[in-house]
Amino acid sequence: MTTYTLKIIRIKQETPNVVTLSFKQPALKKIKYLAGQYLTLIFRINGRRYIRPYSFSSAPGIDELLEITVKRVPNGIVSNHIVDMVKVNDSIEVMEPMGDFIFQNNETLTDVYLWGVGSGITPLFSLIKYILWSNTFLKVHLMYGSKNYENTIFKNQIEHLLSIYSDRFILQHFHTEVYVGDKNPDVIEGRIDQVKALKMLSENPVIGKSSHYICGPLGLKESVKQALDHSGVVKSLIFSEDFELIKNPADFVDIQSQTVRLNFQNQEYNLEVVKGKSILEAALDTNIELPYSCQTGNCSTCKGKIVEGKTRMIGLVKERTDLQETETLLCCTYPLTENIIITI
Ligand SMILES: Cc1cc2nc3c(=O)[nH]c(=O)nc-3n(C[C@H](O)[C@H](O)[C@H](O)COP(=O)(O)OP(=O)(O)OC[C@H]3O[C@@H](n4cnc5c(N)ncnc54)[C@H](O)[C@@H]3O)c2cc1C
Ligand code: FES
Repeated sequence: MTTYTLKIIRIKQETPNVVTLSFKQPALKKIKYLAGQYLTLIFRINGRRYIRPYSFSSAPGIDELLEITVKRVPNGIVSNHIVDMVKVNDSIEVMEPMGDFIFQNNETLTDVYLWGVGSGITPLFSLIKYILWSNTFLKVHLMYGSKNYENTIFKNQIEHLLSIYSDRFILQHFHTEVYVGDKNPDVIEGRIDQVKALKMLSENPVIGKSSHYICGPLGLKESVKQALDHSGVVKSLIFSEDFELIKNPADFVDIQSQTVRLNFQNQEYNLEVVKGKSILEAALDTNIELPYSCQTGNCSTCKGKIVEGKTRMIGLVKERTDLQETETLLCCTYPLTENIIITI
């Protein structure tokens, strides 16, 4: 795992609960990334190591600095640490950029839609800048859900882009909290739901020639995907990014608390994995510093090999057809039987 140390040279308060950290590129080996990818930050907080991915809000070729934008999650360890404690001139260890939520160009496309809510705007903002800059003909539509204007991340930067690309950048705000002074034709009141998404899509006569990038809570993803299905947009033109692993309690019915034998860096551990915790979570809780990043079954950093016993992967955000039968992603792996042995 390649890591770099980056220095923070600017911190910008975007909204009351959101900050953007700007990092200087390393002097010798510049970090290369694609719009829509993420940077994984490594922290030590109260003696324990925490690793969290944050999408780039900067875009390669356009923004000189590497930027990520972080929203405070209630009781979240790292997001609160970043928003409250991190300072200009701090050095932060990061992994090399990862992620497949990137722009897939296609000659038949006329329009690109980006659907985002809250901090989900982060990779979308990087993609918007990149698509507008690298193409001269594509129409870019941003469907953006926020609480209100005060909590709209990148409000001014988005307006700036609108003034530059007024002929092909189209913005629609959705606010769940509309004040009298905020009332304006650019704002639709309420969440982005299936009905509202269908209405927006029906306004475009060539919707079959559009691709779609979705980032936000599960409800947004499901509503937009259903609306796209009804509008005849094929699945291969729909892309989504998930910030969080969604666990369905029904998948856990036959999962048992078990002791799992883990071989890591030539050491053997007997790990108590209580029902509901993944093998990665159980290892981290006992301070075994396994490698990981996304915790959503997407990046493979936590890949291990099952030597004995049976396990199940639960909550993978995307289907993984690239894993061999004995391979498993420990962030999503739960014990099914006794006598499990895993190496990583
Ligand atoms: C690929 C990827 C890209 C990401 N990009 C961004 C980004 O650009 N900006 C950003 O702010 N975050 C982003 N995240 C989320 C981020 O990595 C952390 O998960 C988030 O900051 C919470 O970490 P924490 O340590 O504060 O919370 P934890 O201490 O890990 O969790 C505390 C509680 O919050 C819940 N929780 C965890 N994550 C979220 C979440 N995202 N929303 C709501 N509840 C949550 C947990 O279930 C838990 O109950 C991204 C995640 C992924 C997988
Ligand atoms: S940490 Fe990314 S797949 Fe497990």
